[in-house]
Formats: sequence, structure tokens, C-alpha cells
Amino acid sequence: MRITVLTLFPAMFPAILNDSIIKRAKENNLVTFEIINFRDFSSNKHKMVDDTPYGGGAGMVLAVEPIYKALTSIEGYESALKILLTPQGKTYHQSVAKELISEEHIILICGHYEGFDDRVREFIDIEVSIGDYVLTGGEIAALTIIDSVVRLIPGALGSKESYENDSFYEDTLDYPQYTKPREFRGLKVPDVLLSGNHQEIAKWREEMKVKRTLERRPDLHKKSN
Ligand code: ADE
Repeated sequence: MRITVLTLFPAMFPAILNDSIIKRAKENNLVTFEIINFRDFSSNKHKMVDDTPYGGGAGMVLAVEPIYKALTSIEGYESALKILLTPQGKTYHQSVAKELISEEHIILICGHYEGFDDRVREFIDIEVSIGDYVLTGGEIAALTIIDSVVRLIPGALGSKESYENDSFYEDTLDYPQYTKPREFRGLKVPDVLLSGNHQEIAKWREEMKVKRTLERRPDLHKKSN
């Protein structure tokens, strides 16, 4: 999979992309990244990418031209899935992450400041929001998408780190997990997990998934039934 990011803040990306599972996926050639600063595509001598809004009002608006130029400079951009990160987009969900892994190339466009010139919307395929709150820019949203998609690429997780039990994988929350010690400040690990009876353990885990989902996210439970 190829992932291209258009951003004004490329320095926000290396820490996440060069660590842990994403780093390993890159080393194993499961994913490649290109981080493009669209300020480099400004035709303005001061390298400005924003301007005051037509009609007046506070703040600055990202201009369409540098974004368009940066986008069309990307090899094969026509066939890539072009995603605009904005609080006005469709809310991101695990099901979207699952759909995105079948894409060969995605382009993530991060905004900043008060917003984009609306004509940017003519050049993209989908708009995604990671939730009903406003971030300073699309970078954290882009990293959220990258992280959640890369870990689903076949081979990205080791056999020990399977995603099939993840929360949301089948519209349920995950079951509770425990590790050593057996008892911590009087808090005991459930007996069934120490029983060695794999059938009983699997049954308990399924029951706990349903219980947790019903208690914490009844909306999810309804969706999967
Ligand atoms: N940019 C600013 N806020 C955002 C959000 N909630 N999701 C995606 N992009 C954003």
C-alpha cells in the first residue's frame, strides 16, 4: 500500500511513522509513505498558502492552488483515493479502516487554519472526520487513519498481535485481558482464565464481549444484532 500525505507540518509525522508496527510494516515493504509539504507548491514569493476569506470574516483560508498543484504532482494521483480530513466529513470508523486496506494508494490531505477554499472539494473523493471535535489541523486525523489502516494490512501484525479480537472488529468491544501476577492488591484474575480449559475460556470471553458491549456501547450491540 502507498500512502501520500499533503500537509503544512511534515515534522509531525516521523515520530509515529518510524516506530513500532508502522516502522516494521515499512521495513517489510508492506507500506510506503510520502510526506509532501504543499507550501513547496505556493507560487507566492513569500510561500504563502492561505489568504483572507472573500466576503470578510476572521481567520485565513487555505488556497486551492497550492493544494491542487501538490496533488497533481503526485505520480498516479488520478487513480489514488483522495481523502480530505475535515470535521465536516463522514465520521471515521473501524469499518472504513477495513475498506481502506483494499486501496493501492491513498492520499490524505490535511487542512489547517480556518478551513479550505471550498473548491478543493472538487478534486477529492471522500471527506473524513475522526470525530465531532475540532483539531488544529488534519495531521492527527491523518495519523489516526494511517495507524488504524496499516495494522490491518496482512502481515503487519505478528501472530501474537492478531486484530481479530480487537474492539470494533465485529462491532463488539474486546473482552478483558489479564497477565501476571494472579493477584494484585487483592484483585484476582478470574478463575476460568487459570483453568486451562480452552473451551470454557473461549465461552467466557465471548460472554464478556457481549456483556461489555451491552454495558458500555449498547448502540454497537444493536448494530451487530
Ligand atoms: N481537522 C480538524 N478537525 C478534524 C477532525 N475532527 N477530523 C478530521 N480532520 C480534522
